[in-house]
Amino acid sequence: MNKFSKTVATSVLGFAILFSSFAPATGFAADVEPSNWTREDVSKIVQNKDNTAPEINTEDLEQIAPDYHIWDTWPLRNKDGSIATLNGYKVIFSLTAPSDVLPGKRHDIAEIRYFVSKNGKDWKLGGTVFNEEQLGSRQWAGSAMIEDGEINFFYTATGRKGEEQLTYEQRLVKASADVDASSKGIEFNNWSDHEVILEPDGEYYQTMEQSKQGDIAYAFRDPWFFEDPKSGEEYILFEGNSGGTPAERSVEQEHIGSEDFATVDDVPEESKLFNGNIGIAKAENDEYTEFEIMPPLMEANSLNQELERPHIVTKGNKYYLFTDTHKNKFAPGTDGPDGLYGFVSDSLTSNYEPLNDSGLVVANPENEPYQTYSWMVMPNGTVISFANFYDLNGVTIDELGQQSEQFQFNHFGGTLAPSLKLSIHKDETKILKEMDAGVFK
Ligand code: FRU
Repeated sequence: MNKFSKTVATSVLGFAILFSSFAPATGFAADVEPSNWTREDVSKIVQNKDNTAPEINTEDLEQIAPDYHIWDTWPLRNKDGSIATLNGYKVIFSLTAPSDVLPGKRHDIAEIRYFVSKNGKDWKLGGTVFNEEQLGSRQWAGSAMIEDGEINFFYTATGRKGEEQLTYEQRLVKASADVDASSKGIEFNNWSDHEVILEPDGEYYQTMEQSKQGDIAYAFRDPWFFEDPKSGEEYILFEGNSGGTPAERSVEQEHIGSEDFATVDDVPEESKLFNGNIGIAKAENDEYTEFEIMPPLMEANSLNQELERPHIVTKGNKYYLFTDTHKNKFAPGTDGPDGLYGFVSDSLTSNYEPLNDSGLVVANPENEPYQTYSWMVMPNGTVISFANFYDLNGVTIDELGQQSEQFQFNHFGGTLAPSLKLSIHKDETKILKEMDAGVFK
């Protein structure tokens, strides 16, 4: 343990002792020791063939549902994380919006639809997942798991149903339904009530009110179900921001890295506005409606604003924690590509170290920096994602809104991207090959 991690461990221990005086009887909340993704880690990013995806052939992109833009996607899983097969069908869920809506506006009207496939390659639209009972003015990413013939569905309710002015409040919701699988396909029937299972506590996870006091973006979303194979305990991981208002925060040594690196990193003051984290909460009942919120697994304070769609793959004795982020979400003085990033630990709740030294696992090629996004690693190392913006001729994502509408439509994929096969070995990963779009074999 180096000097710096010792300081962190000591302060975390101090905090754990303090916290245990009001922690519930399980005492679990005190067990998380948040890991830091530091500015020093990110300074080690070098794009090379092992972490850079090949340029996708956009002419080969197939619209799996031509009437809709398709983006964040996740498969139906069994409780242990393996991919579910029902009557020979695999199922995926995607955020969708009508394809005549400007790509940048799709988030404001997102709905979750599902697709089924026998060969795991040709996907057929099944329809919307919910009828009318979903919460939020739109629904953002989540996860789904089947147990005893019942689907347990977790998603982000963004805003409130019927709101006149779009708001960015985000709550994590659970609903369940019967799964009817026949030769005709898959149907979800008898939906339960949709219950809010997690909201930010303001201490570990920022509330929207705190964020409004000067922060740059807000997140409390993307619930992802995980059963820990070591303990059998069940958890939800999610994307959050570290708690508190900007006025209450400052850049700390633990955000920067080693003392040596701090002598060369001139950290701009506004870096403290960047407070992305990866949250975790433990299931307290068999219906997955009660959760105990815990300190975050990972924080990127003073480094990055959005650690999106966090998820875990286990291999051997190790936990591999993955997340997606954008180039424009890195703090001033730091830089990283739109990419899939990852960390490894022998423990679920502490000591995560960046994979490949920096954390970078999959980046878009430098001449197509936005070609894909929202990567998700399957248990066998296959990585799925969606086709995002391509062929922009140097236009950045931040400048895209000023281009003509036609330009924005013409350069958006909005469908499943070619999958990638990743090798994962100890603390290193390598992209082995590109595969067909949407496959996760
Ligand atoms: C990533 C993401 C998710 C969110 C969704 C909203 O692509 O930002 O974090 O759930 O898109 O459209």
